Amino acid sequence: MCGIVGYIGKAAAPPILLHGLRRLEYRGYDSAGMAIIDGRQLLVSKAPGKVANLKEKSKCEWPAELFSQPSYGIAHTRWATHGPPTEANAHPHRDQSGEIALVHNGIIENYRSLRARLEAKGHVFLSETDTEVLAHLIGDRYEENLFQAVCDALHQVEGTFGIAVISSREPGLIITARRGSPIVLGIGDGETIIASDAAAILAHTQRVIYLDDNDIAIVKADHVEIRDLNNVPVNRAVAELELDASAAEKGGFAHFMLKEIHEQPESLRNAIRGRLDFALGSSVLSGMGTSPRELAEINRIVLVGCGTSLHSGLIGEYAFEDLADTPAEVQQAAEFRYRNPIIGRSDLVIAISQSGETADTLAAVREANQKGAFVMGLCNVVGSTIARETGRGIYLHAGPEISVASTKAFTCQVAVLLMMALKMGRSRRFSRQEGMDFARQIEAIPSLVAQVIAQNDHIARIAESYAANEHAFFIGRGPMYPVALEGALKLKEISYIHAEGYHAAELKHGPIALLEKGTPVIALANDIPGKDKTLGNIEECKARGARILGLITAGDEEAAAVMDDVIEIPACHPLVATIPSAVALQLFAYHIARIRGCEIDQPRNLAKSVTVE
Ligand code: F6R
Repeated sequence: MCGIVGYIGKAAAPPILLHGLRRLEYRGYDSAGMAIIDGRQLLVSKAPGKVANLKEKSKCEWPAELFSQPSYGIAHTRWATHGPPTEANAHPHRDQSGEIALVHNGIIENYRSLRARLEAKGHVFLSETDTEVLAHLIGDRYEENLFQAVCDALHQVEGTFGIAVISSREPGLIITARRGSPIVLGIGDGETIIASDAAAILAHTQRVIYLDDNDIAIVKADHVEIRDLNNVPVNRAVAELELDASAAEKGGFAHFMLKEIHEQPESLRNAIRGRLDFALGSSVLSGMGTSPRELAEINRIVLVGCGTSLHSGLIGEYAFEDLADTPAEVQQAAEFRYRNPIIGRSDLVIAISQSGETADTLAAVREANQKGAFVMGLCNVVGSTIARETGRGIYLHAGPEISVASTKAFTCQVAVLLMMALKMGRSRRFSRQEGMDFARQIEAIPSLVAQVIAQNDHIARIAESYAANEHAFFIGRGPMYPVALEGALKLKEISYIHAEGYHAAELKHGPIALLEKGTPVIALANDIPGKDKTLGNIEECKARGARILGLITAGDEEAAAVMDDVIEIPACHPLVATIPSAVALQLFAYHIARIRGCEIDQPRNLAKSVTVE
């Protein structure tokens, strides 16, 4: 959720910290703050709202030299959990003495009892946060060794944390640690950058170290030492980032979301490249790490994820059953471990996550590992916790996704799931020819998506006449049902229009009561099995005055005749059609949000990476 940046080196910390926070703002953006050590003095500046507010405020509060002379420090952009987004609740938080400053990502679950204990000892708290309790706890244990004080405090903490801590009593040192919330160290030339996400490191270095859970690092400008919480040294390899700093720029587009929608032909090409084997009529997914024999032993597939990643899983469910004759089901990651799922050796659990850090999905991975299932990750962020804990899996190669609303990660997730289903299908019922035919369908996906993106202006015009509505329904059947759910999610999260996705047949079981003259119904009426029934459902909506925007297969005049407005999706296999159809709905949501003047890349109340339960 929140973003953490720390800098120690030869340069002035504030500009670097502010730049890093801008890069991480998509992770949380309701307040921000930074703390620096200037000589032996600890200075803290905080502001509610965007990082721009912090920049302005710190420039007023701090002398101008601080922005040019060497210093080091830590910074944070917050997504509120405990207490509203006020200046008092913004990080960094100080301890009782005011000598220590701490930024924190995660949740200290036992903060109430810790706070009561500290209050009984005379500590006075200035915020409602769990984080301030941790700062005080460290201060309470602090004699002369900050590292030891942080270790001692973390031993008393239940919950999750990624933290960075500084003290004016021990200049030239940042202590950082993680459990359940990522921390990456960027190893530069005489400087070290600490971040919760590599995006903040890119501008400085490509060399990084990922901390593991329960690692604690002593970070100096030219030296990093990592230990576990029992003070035993641990070795963590230096990895090379494969990201390019320009990926974090808008590149001429008005918003990251629009840029990322337009990137999809390329990101899908990257997701598919080298993974189709036309001669065998199969796919090559070495990350799956399973032999055809092991694949043949899988009796059931369980897909877990949250939000948009859950929706791609729902499409995967159709694909595995249809192409691979394998029973498949989707479970919400947040429910998975609490329902004590019946999972065993012959089950394959696929954890789907763009960020690879979503707390609920990670917990599901751990539960499935406990139960002895085959567990695979389907992640976008390389080196993320889920990717590392699953050990085997497939990267999406979608490239960095900055906009909070997921677009290119979703379509790459579906493409990868289709390739997985193809591989399993070949080890079961698919003939070589059938496999080859489906591989050709997958190969065509980038160009199908490009054909939809080429309709951008047409979709923008359609959006004009739907943007004033406050409610919308999305309907579909078969694999288009999850696309309807995803279309509704996209619209509601960025435009704040109340949108619901339903199976086309479900409307008449209740929601149809809400239709009145002009209510938008966005119907996925592609020419796939069940289309006639969907057209019937559309007639039912029209009879109640609804206005219908139909996604139809190009050239389908029968379907076009039923609609008020039409977006044409190129003809293709029904499972493949989910991808260009989803792209059309991404553009539709984008233009509606643009027309309504919404903050598209950073919608209210949301954050990109949800590392709390
Ligand atoms: C919606 C969206 C979220 C995420 C969800 C899971 O546009 O982005 O619903 O899909 O928070 O995130 P990941 O995929 O990172 O696990």
